Amino acid sequence: MSGGSGAAGGGPRPAVKLGVLLSGEGTNLQAIIDAIERGRLRAEVRVAISNKPRARGLERARRHGIPAETIDHRGFASREEFDRALVAALRAHDVELVICAGFMRLLSPVMVRAFHGRIMNIHPALCPAFPGVDAVRQALEYGVRFSGCTVFFVAEGVDDGPIIAQAVVPVDPNDDETALAARIHAEEHRLYPLAIRLYQEGRLELDGRVVRVRDLPPPATPGAPINPRPE
Ligand code: GAR
Repeated sequence: MSGGSGAAGGGPRPAVKLGVLLSGEGTNLQAIIDAIERGRLRAEVRVAISNKPRARGLERARRHGIPAETIDHRGFASREEFDRALVAALRAHDVELVICAGFMRLLSPVMVRAFHGRIMNIHPALCPAFPGVDAVRQALEYGVRFSGCTVFFVAEGVDDGPIIAQAVVPVDPNDDETALAARIHAEEHRLYPLAIRLYQEGRLELDGRVVRVRDLPPPATPGAPINPRPE
């Protein structure tokens, strides 16, 4: 879980080898690729895998010379069989850290155990609130004043693994699902590369279910955000 293997004894840690799982647009994959290309993240996307052959994310990968594969879940009799195929493909590409980026399949223990502590996921809510599908709609219907997004290590439940990083997004009174989802998405694109960087730098450590982050700068103290803003 501390990541960036093989770098004991100082010096920069090697680029982390990523395998990205996705089912749709792949804008988080794009944010990760952009961070790598801009020198903000020492990582290499070894493969992008989708369970849906037409996922736009696969095209994004190909455009950047990244191998893009489809493993269609409909071709498998069980979740476990599908996951065994995923594990084999990820290993064939020498993947160290698995990044779920809009991958709309629950992972079975087959995957979670094969890459124990080495699978991240992103969820468009402040976990543990609003797990599962339609997180943005759930937040609006509940009437929360803040939502956001969470990057976490995948465990065997739904969106309930140890939290690596979160970003808070205020809910505006006029928000519909599209507007709030767009602002959360924008924060996801900053948050995911950051979480992967912390892993690559070997700064994440698991203490029970709590992820400790080493060598953090002192927290800024702007005062607690309040929504609606006090007059
Ligand atoms: C993201 O908003 C991510 O948080 C969500 O799917 C979207 C994928 O966007 N994931 C979940 O809801 C998982 N429970 P993208 O394909 O543009 O990266």
